[in-house]
Amino acid sequence: MRIIKVALGTNSYEVRVGPGLLSQAGRWLSELGFGNKLVIITDPSVNRLYGEMLNRALTEFDFNVNTLLVAEGEDQKSLETAGRLYHQLTDCYTERSTPILTLGGGVIGDLGGFVAATYMRGVPLVQLPTTLLAQVDSSIGGKVAVDHERLKNKIGAFYQPKLVIADTDTLKTLPAKELANGMAEVIKSAAIRSKEFFAYLEGNLDRIKSLDENVLEEVVFQTASIKAEVVEKDETDLGLRNILNYGHTIGHAIESVTDFSMGHGSVVAIGMVAAATISNRMGMLDKNDLHRLKNVIVSTGLPTKLPNIKVEKIVQAMRHDKKVSQDRIRFILLKSLGSALVSDDVSPSLVEKVLIGDEKT
Ligand code: NAD
Ligand code: GLY
Repeated sequence: MRIIKVALGTNSYEVRVGPGLLSQAGRWLSELGFGNKLVIITDPSVNRLYGEMLNRALTEFDFNVNTLLVAEGEDQKSLETAGRLYHQLTDCYTERSTPILTLGGGVIGDLGGFVAATYMRGVPLVQLPTTLLAQVDSSIGGKVAVDHERLKNKIGAFYQPKLVIADTDTLKTLPAKELANGMAEVIKSAAIRSKEFFAYLEGNLDRIKSLDENVLEEVVFQTASIKAEVVEKDETDLGLRNILNYGHTIGHAIESVTDFSMGHGSVVAIGMVAAATISNRMGMLDKNDLHRLKNVIVSTGLPTKLPNIKVEKIVQAMRHDKKVSQDRIRFILLKSLGSALVSDDVSPSLVEKVLIGDEKT
């Protein structure tokens, strides 16, 4: 097992990473000194795969467990579902000391975290992420939220968990599409923060694809460590934490133009290549690094180019985004692999040219 300490003063916690960890949850939760009641929020698929094992691990330590099921899908990240969960929590007589355990991907983590942050003005939260994206990104850093009408992730809070348990064995049942979504965030994290980890990824893509236990643990550990380090320096996203949005400025615009019909990993991958190309055009990232980035993305099975979508629509969607001021778009750019910066100086016409593919690289 590898342990990452997220140092946030009185909100500090550990992220424990490795195979077989869910079976240790009972011991660790009893060490945290919670009462004997617990609530698990999960979805039916994850519950089918891991619910029984987790229940056994908890009841072995005399916990009384209530499991609340939420259907799968982003549309469950809503005030309506949160409202239903508040009622269910009241029905199972939970108290302010009763922890909520979120077992699942980012949807369950964000929704369950939002409910934990708001029910009775906050009950303890423990994240048990089971997708690669959730293990390396969404379970760490305390952003919890629901979507509301067109406001994606806009109704929420910063609410740090008491513990994150990332059992890498759970990644073995992930559909390929979900693994690719997580890999986009893994590549992003290496690209913005660690050239050594980027080189590690280059050398281990086959072993990641074959779900090699040691390599998965290393990948989750390294990526989660990058997230933890950035969050420690900027918990409430006022500066440095923006770099985690590398690839997401264009990615979000593609999602909105295509009505979320493309996978999140795919749009982030296209966004990363575009932002890297823009970086190169603005005299930063060199050609060799740009090619290395593209190669890793292609080898992961993610796209590097836009499908047949009108580029003007994407640029228009970015202009509507809050990150635009005085005809300049806020972008996360790469100085080199492993080093990112926030730039407020990217012109929409350069973005358009790069997306059309008019790049001389
Ligand atoms: P998800 O939560 O929708 O999970 C994807 C699917 O995988 C679901 O159908 C789920 O049932 C299934 N699944 C989960 N674990 C599994 C396993 N081990 N084996 C088999 N199937 C499994 O998707 P996601 O990519 O994990 O999360 C996306 C969400 O995360 C979005 O809502 C996004 O906004 C949010 N997010 C939040 C943050 C943050 O900082 N809070 C960061 C990034 C993304
Ligand atoms: N996923 C971006 C952040 O946590 O800030």
